[in-house]
This record gives sequence, C-alpha cells and structure tokens, in this order.
Amino acid sequence: MSTAISPTAYNYKVVRQFAIMTVVWGILGMGLGVFIASQLVWPELNFGLPWTTFGRLRPLHTNLVIFAFGGCALFATSYYVVQRTCQTRLISDALAAFTFWGWQAVIVGAIITLPLGYTTTKEYAELEWPIAILLAIVWVTYAVVFFGTIVKRKTKHIYVGNWFYGAFILVTAMLHIVNHASLPVSFFKSYSAYAGATDAMIQWWYGHNAVGFFLTTGFLGMMYYFVPKQAERPIYSYRLSIVHFWALITLYIWAGPHHLHYTALPDWAQSLGMAMSIILLAPSWGGMINGMMTLSGAWHKLRTDPILRFLVVSLAFYGMSTFEGPMMAIKTVNSLSHYTDWTIGHVHAGALGWVAMISIGALYHMIPKLFGRAQMHSVSLINTHFWLATIGTVLYIASMWVNGITQGLMWRAINDDGTLTYSFVEGLQASHPGYIVRALGGAIFASGMLFMAYNVWRTVRASDPKEAEAASQIAVVGAH
Ligand code: HEM
Ligand code: HEM
Repeated sequence: MSTAISPTAYNYKVVRQFAIMTVVWGILGMGLGVFIASQLVWPELNFGLPWTTFGRLRPLHTNLVIFAFGGCALFATSYYVVQRTCQTRLISDALAAFTFWGWQAVIVGAIITLPLGYTTTKEYAELEWPIAILLAIVWVTYAVVFFGTIVKRKTKHIYVGNWFYGAFILVTAMLHIVNHASLPVSFFKSYSAYAGATDAMIQWWYGHNAVGFFLTTGFLGMMYYFVPKQAERPIYSYRLSIVHFWALITLYIWAGPHHLHYTALPDWAQSLGMAMSIILLAPSWGGMINGMMTLSGAWHKLRTDPILRFLVVSLAFYGMSTFEGPMMAIKTVNSLSHYTDWTIGHVHAGALGWVAMISIGALYHMIPKLFGRAQMHSVSLINTHFWLATIGTVLYIASMWVNGITQGLMWRAINDDGTLTYSFVEGLQASHPGYIVRALGGAIFASGMLFMAYNVWRTVRASDPKEAEAASQIAVVGAH
C-alpha cells in the first residue's frame, strides 16, 4: 500500500474553531449548571433580580450545554470525520466559516435574550423568532456543507459515522422548522401556530427527537469514528452498525408521547409512545454493544489510555440511560417518576455520562491532530479529568435517584382518611441533602473542564504552525 501526500489539505481551521469553543461553552454552560444547582440549595442566590432567577437561568443552562457545548462538539467532529472519511476538503470554506460565526451569534443571542425573559416558553426551543430564523439558516448551510462534502468524496463508500451525522442534521432541521411555526406579534414575541394538545404533541415530538437526534444520533456518529480510532481496532460489526442505524431512526421518531403520559393527549397515542420507547431499548443496546465490543482484544489499553476510558465509560452511561428511559416510559413507572428529580437524574446520566464524556474523549483524540502535535500536553491531566468527570456524574445521578424516588413516594402517600400524608414542603425538605450532593457532583464535573482548558491551551501553545499545516494534508492511502 503506497502513501502519497495530495497537494490539497483538509479544512482544519473551522474544526479547530469549533473544538476550542466546545471547551469554552462547556465551562460556561456547566458553570451555570452548578450555579442553578446551588440556587436550589441556597435560594438567596436568585439575588431577588428577574435576570438572575432560576426560571430564566435554567433555560440558558440547557441552551448553553446542549446547543453551545454539544452543538460545537458535533460541528467540530462532523467536519473532521466527514473530511477524513471522504478524503476530501469541505465543499466550501466560506460556507463552513458562516456556520461557525452564525452558530456563535445564535448562542450570544440566547445569552442576551433568555435572562431578559424573552422566550417562546417551549422547552429546548425557547429562542424567539429572529434568532430561530438565524438558527434555521445556519443549519441549512451546515447541511449543504456536510452533504456537499459527501457528494464530492474521493472514496466509494460512505462510512457509517456519516450516516448518523447525516440523519442528525436532516432530522434536526425538520424538527426545528416544524416546531417553530409561529405567528410573530412583535420583534421579540411570537405565538405557536398550534393549539392545545396538538401544540403539546408537536413540542414533545420535537423535544424527544432533540434528545434522539441531537443528543443521541449525532453523538453516535462521533462514537463510530472515535472509538475504533482510539482503540486502533475496526468496529466490532459493520453489519450491526447498519441495522443499528435503521432501527434507531425508525423507532425514535415515535416515542415522543412518553413525555405526555396522563395528559389530554389521546390514550392510544400515549400507549404507542410507551410501546415504541420499550422497543427502542434494542437498537440502543445494539449500538452500545457494538461500540464496547470494538475493544475486544484491546481491553488492556484501558489501563494506560484515559482517552479510551472516556469513550468506553460514555458508552456504559449510554447503555444505562437507554435502559432507564424505556423503563420510565412505562406508564405506571412514569406516574412515579414524572415531575420528580428522577427525570433530572436520567437527563444527566445521558448528558454528563454520555454526551459530555464522549465529546471530551473525541476532543482529546482530535485536538493534538488538529494542531500537529503527537499527543495532548499532559496525559496525566486527562486521567485526572476522567476521574473528576466520572465521580461528578455518579454523585449527580445517584443523588437525583434518591431524591426522585423519595419525592414520588412522598407525594403519593395518603392517610386512611384519604388526606395527603406529607405536605409539598416536607418533600422539599427531604430533598435538600440530595441537592447539596448534586451541586457538589456538578462542581466536581465542571472543575474537570478547567483542567481540560489548561491542557488544551498548553497543547495549542506548543503547536508550530508549519507542523499544523503539514498535519492537515490529505494523505491518500492506497487505491480505493
Ligand atoms: C456540571 C454540570 C451540570 C450541572 C451542575 C447541571 C445542573 C442542572 C440543574 C440544576 C438543572 C435544573 C434541574 C431542575 O429543574 O430541577 C439542569 C437541567 C438540565 N440540564 Fe444540566 N447540569 C450540568 C450539565 C449538563 C449538561 C452537560 C447537559 C447536556 C449536555 C445538561 C442538560 C440539562 C437539561 C436537558 C436539563 C433540563 C432537564 C429537564 O427539563 O428535565 N446539563 N441541569
Ligand atoms: C431508549 C432511550 C430513551 C428513552 C426511551 C427515554 C425515555 C425518557 C422518558 C420516559 C423520560 C421522562 C418523560 C417525563 O416523565 O416527562 C425522559 C426524559 C428525558 N430524557 Fe430520556 N430516554 C432515553 C434516552 C435518553 C438519552 C440517551 C438522553 C440524553 C442524552 C435522554 C435525555 C432526556 C431528557 C433531556 C429528558 C427530559 C425532557 C424534559 O422533560 O425536559 N434520554 N426520557
């Protein structure tokens, strides 16, 4: 097999920009998470000001961690993966740069408008129409850059990771555009085009598939590239990855009604959502097993490679949250878990354990390569980060399980005469220790991000522009 260096290079500039901003937004979004978690322990931290209340900062937290941190990680890795697996440069540098600056503008728009109280009130879709339109334009441009690059690929085959990224891009566009259909009444206020139970159903079709396609399918694209790369093993079963892809995207789209159990939504729709959620366990675990088994024969590497540990532990949390989710979708279980901290625990098992850990692992793999370095500045700091992230996640989710089940049981307890055994405030008092542990777990996780920032800064600072340039050359390996 001969290796020839082609005269053209990958567009690593946009990948570097998104990668660095992933770390920056990660620190801000998680820092804000720690702050709102502390508000639930010490309400004085609301400062009696409208802009700093929990109600306004909570959606800013979700927007920053999902769209700023998670979104930048997805942009960075998808642009990296699509170029490398298609052995070609992105189709347009200008459009790619537009997606970077446009995406940052959307985030800055969120940082300004959400604390001011401008919101559509739809969860994960809070941004008012001028920002939502900018987001739609950036997203369609992203689709053009991604699929355009696939079209001009130099390889015959489209690697499975790109299928996952492609589905994430297409479905996110569809969800965002349909759920944002609304009537603007002023520059910062609009009303949904849908009403009543239909509005709720569209919102949770969006909300659940934001989880399914933004927080899952996109990150599975990441998993299919970075796990085999870091383990230096081919994916365990390529056939399973194809079955995984089609089964996952076919099933996810039906599961939204599990967010609306015991509501005005027709009963058949709730039962359908429940059934589809239970079936969803199969492809989710199929994907997890495919990722885990890629390590067959390479398990010993876990002893010395903290990057691989990040990737593998993220898969373990993915398996855990996709077992828990189908259980919570069962109506009788949901009657206990809904409205309680159990949901918050489930969310962060997915968000910290899966989404954040796989992104962090992928960044540690990618950053030295983007800057022409052999490895990160300090491997032992990656190891420290790994333990902080793991301990932080476990403290967060364990405290929320305890709180959630306590709340659910206390709320439903009744005396012989049919009156409630506990007042709401008693449930809140019982939750207080859990809130302290959660804030501590969150602070531990977020502190790990500071170690990452230092490690990234030292790696970038040591980078020589010539080496970085050489690293971005397209190496065509053999014939294809
Ligand atoms: C240091 C890390 C973090 C801390 C301390 C933290 C803390 C919090 C807190 C206190 C809430 C509000 C819970 C409530 O209303 O009772 C929340 C909500 C949420 N967070 Fe985080 N968070 C962190 C990281 C993340 C990350 C990385 C993501 C996503 C990738 C994320 C996604 C969410 C989502 C989706 C919700 C809303 C959940 C729901 O409505 O059910 N968080 N977080
Ligand atoms: C097979 C996979 C999954 C199923 C069937 C599932 C199911 C569920 C169920 C039943 C709820 C509670 C709904 C309620 O009572 O309101 C929920 C909430 C949630 N799940 Fe999952 N889940 C899955 C995987 C995941 C993963 C991997 C993540 C994150 C990366 C995640 C993120 C969330 C979020 C953010 C919410 C809170 C939504 C809200 O109320 O704001 N889920 N999920």
